[in-house]
Amino acid sequence: MSTRLLRRLTAAALVLALGIIMLGAWVRLNDAGLGCPDWPGCYGHALVQPGAGVEPAKAWKEMIHRYFAGSFGLLVMVLAVIAWRRGKGRERWFLPLAALVVVFQAALGAWTVTMKLEPAVVMGHLLGGFTMAVLLWLTWLGLIGSRPVGGVQRGLVTLSRVALGVIILQVMLGGWTSANYAALACPDFPMCRGSWWPHANFAAAFVPWHKLGVSYQYGVLGGPARVAIQLVHRIGALVTAGVVGTLAVRCLRSGMPRLERSGSMLLALLGLQFALGIGNVLLGLPLPVAVMHNGVAALLVLAVAYHADVLRSARSVAVDASSEAAAEASEPAVAE
Ligand code: HEM
Repeated sequence: MSTRLLRRLTAAALVLALGIIMLGAWVRLNDAGLGCPDWPGCYGHALVQPGAGVEPAKAWKEMIHRYFAGSFGLLVMVLAVIAWRRGKGRERWFLPLAALVVVFQAALGAWTVTMKLEPAVVMGHLLGGFTMAVLLWLTWLGLIGSRPVGGVQRGLVTLSRVALGVIILQVMLGGWTSANYAALACPDFPMCRGSWWPHANFAAAFVPWHKLGVSYQYGVLGGPARVAIQLVHRIGALVTAGVVGTLAVRCLRSGMPRLERSGSMLLALLGLQFALGIGNVLLGLPLPVAVMHNGVAALLVLAVAYHADVLRSARSVAVDASSEAAAEASEPAVAE
């Protein structure tokens, strides 16, 4: 298979992954996560059938997510085999790894249902989706020949790696917030229940595993535990803004056109994510805002991963930024 075709199929898989991530949020927010109590079929059928206990509107939402996820899984498997046989480039490793994550993700999808929305499984499923998107994104960047940026300060390289760790942690906190139905534990912003430090139960908020056999739809934690989850997600957002924002500003000031462009994009995504998060709280979790908060989180992770990737082989510590800028301007940004 030609590089061009592999690149296009990888791009298609990436777009599909982002769509399925948001579709998953849409299913959850429609309370349709348990629309089909079994897996992979729905009440034993490949298509939703009328019958006792079936709520067709919810069941269809759940099944549409499964059809898309299944098609995506097949596509990633095919890509993994092709990339492995070609035996070159980072795709040789990244696509088979993505295929392994797909298998694990299918298991998590099944457990999400059979373990009745156990929060750790729901959060893990979200994280698995983001991991696949990152692997496809890095593969695609490799296939378009995106060159690493050389000659930047080592501190910036380290900062991009720290930012990647921080954004992943923040996504986990966000996933924990939604999986425990803690979105509206604080209906106000920036204060929570009219206080800067409301009564919160941190010990109960982060118990990693709860007993099975109970449905976790709508959450089981008490109010103070949900407040604690919401508070930690907000504090995480501040830390993320500090670290990712600093990365973006330093890229903006790097004097390198490519980093200036990506830095401004990163800053815009960060601002948008804050606006959506605050909108979630103040508007009472409207469906489009909550789904977009999920989608923009995925784009933010991709944007930070991009920076960590292009900065990874920075060679020298002190550089003449203007000579790098001149070199950038004279070379094509994308090579076949
Ligand atoms: C860089 C900053 C942020 C990131 C990366 C982020 C990420 C996330 C993620 C990944 C989720 C889970 C979405 C899902 O499962 O569908 C989430 C949920 C949530 N976030 Fe954020 N978030 C950020 C900032 C904020 C801010 C500033 C607020 C405002 C208080 C906020 C409020 C919420 C709420 C209320 C939820 C629960 C939504 C739901 O139940 O669907 N987030 N966040």
